[in-house]
Amino acid sequence: MLSEYVVSLPRADMPVPGPPLPEIALAGRSNVGKSSLLNLLVGRKALARASRTPGKTRALNVYLWGRCYLVDVPGYGWSQASKTERAGWRRLVDARREPSRDDLAFGAVLAARKVPTLVVLTKGDEIPRGRRGERAQAIAEALGMPADDVLVTSARTREGAEEIRDAVLAFLG
Ligand code: GTP
Ligand code: MG
Repeated sequence: MLSEYVVSLPRADMPVPGPPLPEIALAGRSNVGKSSLLNLLVGRKALARASRTPGKTRALNVYLWGRCYLVDVPGYGWSQASKTERAGWRRLVDARREPSRDDLAFGAVLAARKVPTLVVLTKGDEIPRGRRGERAQAIAEALGMPADDVLVTSARTREGAEEIRDAVLAFLG
């Protein structure tokens, strides 16, 4: 699928210039692997910039991907970002961790607004294969999400990319 960089927006209330298309935001805590996941999905090594240093993504970076926009969102919970910067951004969960308070709060906002949500557990390669299913189940329960809407991925092994693509295509209809 065609993918290309479109624009970097400093605030979430700014419109994406260009044709109106569904927008899929990759949101989650800082350093969880959002930018790496975006690259995995589009099949390009460095379309979005990933980094070991938390807080790498500082604006809402918008990419055209087939018939939708992918939006690489700055991570929440990154303390060095200024308050004003954080106020401007307004779900990815590290498979090894429990959902944070921010994850739960964000999930509640999405549910209240009926925003279709897929929970992506990142860095699945850090968990033994035999334990991934039970982690996904436990996190789905903690978030109150159906188990089918929780997917385990790894940008290292490329595991899970196809499932997310399928879910996105089904959502786009
Ligand atoms: P911010 O932009 O700071 O919010 O971070 P981000 O969520 O975009 O994370 P990013 O993709 O930059 O990745 C953060 C770190 O996690 C980097 O060191 C990546 O190499 C590492 N990482 C990302 N995905 C994976 C994965 O699937 N497995 C492992 N083991 N490491 C990963
Ligand atoms: Mg990033």
